[in-house]
Amino acid sequence: MDEWQAEFGDFYGYYIGMKPYVVVKDLDLIQQVLIRDFHKFVNRPAMGIEIRPVINTLVGLRGQRWKEVRRVISPTFSARKMRKINCTINRCVDILVEVVGNHAESQSDIDFYGVFQGLTCQVIAECALNTTVDCQRKPDDEFLNSLRQFLKQANNPIINLAIFFPLVREILAVVFRVASPCGQFTQSIIDKVQGVIDSRRNDYQVGVAPTSHNDILQLLMEASENRLESENADGRSRANQLLTDDEIIANAWVFLLGGFETTANALTYCAYLIATHPDVQEKLHQELMDHLGVRIHHSVPLSNYNKISQLTYLDQVFSEALRLFPPVVLFVNREAAEDTQLGQFHIPAGTNVQIPIWQVHHDPNLWPDPYRFDPDRFEPELKKDRHPMAWIPFGSGPRSCLGIRFACLEAKIALAKLLMKYRLVPCERTEEKLTLSVPTVTLNPKNGVWLRAERREATSAC
Ligand code: HEM
Repeated sequence: MDEWQAEFGDFYGYYIGMKPYVVVKDLDLIQQVLIRDFHKFVNRPAMGIEIRPVINTLVGLRGQRWKEVRRVISPTFSARKMRKINCTINRCVDILVEVVGNHAESQSDIDFYGVFQGLTCQVIAECALNTTVDCQRKPDDEFLNSLRQFLKQANNPIINLAIFFPLVREILAVVFRVASPCGQFTQSIIDKVQGVIDSRRNDYQVGVAPTSHNDILQLLMEASENRLESENADGRSRANQLLTDDEIIANAWVFLLGGFETTANALTYCAYLIATHPDVQEKLHQELMDHLGVRIHHSVPLSNYNKISQLTYLDQVFSEALRLFPPVVLFVNREAAEDTQLGQFHIPAGTNVQIPIWQVHHDPNLWPDPYRFDPDRFEPELKKDRHPMAWIPFGSGPRSCLGIRFACLEAKIALAKLLMKYRLVPCERTEEKLTLSVPTVTLNPKNGVWLRAERREATSAC
């Protein structure tokens, strides 16, 4: 896309199969698509094949049903609800610190990409699916490996065939579900989550309080059973379930996918940038000491949600890492529902509009010296004068990332706890320039990110 942009400028188009795409980099036009004219751009591009459960998830739902489901699910990710799952995140992060500590003891190189995948897999499996996995201490854990394989194979030849041969897409959808490992893994998740839902409903009937489960699945179930009371013609009240079981399961599944690789990538890039910029690392450590001090050093849960949001330099470092390496680069796309004028260009209905996040985040007119890591770009004073579309790692507008609070909370707790105890340093295997790949929509460090951790003196924390 860099090459196309150099050749054709900030507005150009291409086809995938029969589907026209236009790439729009002008910030005012991006704002028009994602926010101002959102009513014309509610949907993501239609999928090549209608794969269950994707079509029932927030990612895949379209039009009115997407609006209704998003309205029901959004409160699940409110700050108040996030406090409920804080404990799970803290517990998993303590295991991360223990795992890194073992490597530090033996002075061995650590692939932080693998380590953070273990963390985010455990957190999201426990929070979204109520599934306990020991994938941090056992990096070869079956569940983690299935998830990795799933994402590798998501760029599936069956899906590509469906793009080019739309007439046989229904047959291909069945083939995908039954015959591909992705389809089989998905089915195993569906069975698992349905089992948990049934067992909780059963518990509820025999009097076990539903609030004893602090996870997203429980929040989804509560949201779905927050019934709308309406009256029938005979005057008797009727209860409508707001989400079907299929929708609960589908969304728990999409949180697993959405919450795993994205946050692991974000954390990995943070670790790489922090290790290769010792001045930033020391300033960050000082902030952690000033605000949190003894609390973290002794592995007390970082349960005060507000404390995390007060760490302004941590926020600057995280924001700048997401600018330099946006974990999701090819996903902010919208389909035009009707003919629309975008600046001087006429966009016919059915055209897909793609927002080139990488090119926006590396535009020298918006970000001088764009490949330099400089968290000071996110000082509050500088931030407030910036165009709101210049930094969009989570997309923007009503259809932006639903998990932003969850991702930021998890990443910041992990970085805070890790960096209080350990100094990250490059090792022989650290790449000077990271090799990146985009197998589907996420930006991955192709060879992992290898670093070492050195234990900080305990006295400095107390
Ligand atoms: C650093 C981590 C993450 C990044 C960078 C990220 C990025 C994104 C982006 C770019 C989008 C598309 C937004 C748009 O089209 O405007 C998106 C959508 C979405 N994300 Fe995330 N995400 C992250 C973590 C998470 C987590 C942890 C969850 C759930 C637990 C999640 C759930 C979702 C969902 C459900 C959508 C679809 C929203 C909709 O269509 O209504 N994400 N994310």
